[in-house]
Amino acid sequence: MFRTHTCGELRISDVNKTVTLAGWIQKIRKMGGMTFIDLRDRYGVTQLVFNEEVNSELCEAANKLGREYVIQITGEVNERSSKNLHIPTGEVEIIVSVLEVLNTSDIPPFTIEDNTDGGDDIRMKYRYLDLRRHAVRSNLELRHKMTIEVCSYLDKLNFLEVETPVLIGSTPEGARDFVVPSRMNPNQFYALPQSPQLFKQLLMVSGFDRYFQIAKCFRDEDLRADRQPEFTQIDCEMSFVEQEDILTIFEGMTKHLFRSLLDLDITEPFQRITWHEAMQLYGSDKPDLRFDMKFVELMDIMKGHGFGVFDSAGYIGGICAKGAASYTRKQLDQLTDYVKRPQIGAKGLVYARVEEDENVKSSVDKFYTQEVLQQLKEAFGAEAGDLILILSGDDPMKTRKQLCELRLEVARQLGLCNKNQFVCAWVVDFPLFEWDEEAQRYAAVHHPFTSPKPEDIPLLDSDPGAVRANAYDMVINGVEVGGGSIRIHNSELQNKMFSLLGFTPERAREQFGFLLNAFKYGAPPHGGIAYGLDRMVSLFAGLDTIRDCIAFPKNNSGRDVMIDAPSFIEQSQLDELGIALVEKA
Ligand code: AMO
Repeated sequence: MFRTHTCGELRISDVNKTVTLAGWIQKIRKMGGMTFIDLRDRYGVTQLVFNEEVNSELCEAANKLGREYVIQITGEVNERSSKNLHIPTGEVEIIVSVLEVLNTSDIPPFTIEDNTDGGDDIRMKYRYLDLRRHAVRSNLELRHKMTIEVCSYLDKLNFLEVETPVLIGSTPEGARDFVVPSRMNPNQFYALPQSPQLFKQLLMVSGFDRYFQIAKCFRDEDLRADRQPEFTQIDCEMSFVEQEDILTIFEGMTKHLFRSLLDLDITEPFQRITWHEAMQLYGSDKPDLRFDMKFVELMDIMKGHGFGVFDSAGYIGGICAKGAASYTRKQLDQLTDYVKRPQIGAKGLVYARVEEDENVKSSVDKFYTQEVLQQLKEAFGAEAGDLILILSGDDPMKTRKQLCELRLEVARQLGLCNKNQFVCAWVVDFPLFEWDEEAQRYAAVHHPFTSPKPEDIPLLDSDPGAVRANAYDMVINGVEVGGGSIRIHNSELQNKMFSLLGFTPERAREQFGFLLNAFKYGAPPHGGIAYGLDRMVSLFAGLDTIRDCIAFPKNNSGRDVMIDAPSFIEQSQLDELGIALVEKA
């Protein structure tokens, strides 16, 4: 046997046993005539001891070892005199009697420990070393467990995993496609799926009434902490269901994941909030509901008192930060700078403190009487010690989004973003369309296969912007972890949808003829949802970016710096594909 135990296995009950371990050298410490080595594998770290007085030759060999050498040792388990109770193996050590060097190692470019000295770039370049670190590996372990739990939960409910192809045509999910040239079909390209959307709908037509897939998806979009160009969905679809059925099953799955992976029992039903309410109260379709700070609209109270900025505004709104009246002038100036950053774009910030004597002192006192400021206080139900923060702007939607950024920043500053608290919500009743200024036409908020609410169908002709969709997102702690909809299953309505989205009948047939055809052969009512697996894992693990739960992620420029991709290809390959490169300015 190569090893009798792993490096995370031995306990005080194993004392006196002769064991064989294999692993990587994490650390070497020499103390007098003793050499201590921390030996690491996937399961943990065990301390090895070499004693010069007992075996000088062996100790000399140990002193020649280096960090990340791969060794195999045999020895006796001993109770440690100075125990390390921070690790499960910390009560024992191995008195080594046989040492075999299995491989040497160059000095690693960063220390492979929880608190590494390696920066982001270097760790990405040597990702295979970064993955040796417990902190990174444990994220992948959680990911594995989540996938297993999802599969077993859905399997018990008769969901069938079906793989759908990766070389397909374009799927209209709103991002750009990654495309792959086809050698056998000159001048033609496959697209990588942005999601398995169309295929899962076709599977419903085929009668697979409960489908799921752990599916790789590809989107060529700008990257952020919660976006990767290739990511994984828990993709699901069901036939003969209404919105309520889907919400119930997937609320159940989410609760199951919290219970099985984090030992957290969420007994309450998830909050439900309409898209309209979410935008009005939080300025976001993915509100973080761990804290309150709902927006209060202040047009009636604050307009018309001679303060030009407010008097000319199309929207004035604010939030109340509980107990934050102690914010210093400097902190308030910093908050003002924060909302004035180009990414947020507010023009300024007005604040009002509720003082101990219940008087309100604001940064625009000269325009407002104490009586008006008291109305302001009451509008928020504010109390002594609270701080009211107000933004205004011409465009209500834009200003609410700015206020949303302010709300999140204040919550971070006040320590309200507890990573161990999870507040789950369904955001429902999304609008079906949004107006695309650039293209001067409507675009689908979700995708073109989402069905309108039946009662809103008459509005499709008269007021498309007011039509609500049978669509829903699952939002946890301000992260959109999943989204889906009830689909259109009628080719007439689907055609109408395409035409409202600006497709000519020819283009619709060309791109989606197969789906429209399929709908002619008895498509059942159906709907589904897809979760972002990477987002779920990083939320459960309390990570700041989804990169940390992906084994080999891309950086913010979409590059894999380890394998140096994307990269140029040989001229011969280009010739074979009939592709000529054009220098971009
Ligand atoms: P949607 O586009 O909302 O819906 O995607 C579903 C979920 O996938 C995750 N996600 C991402 N995760 C990481 N990086 C990305 N670039 C990225 N883009 C999306 C999010 C999101 O909620 N076909 C529909 C689903 C359906 O209607 O059933 C779809 O893909 O967590």
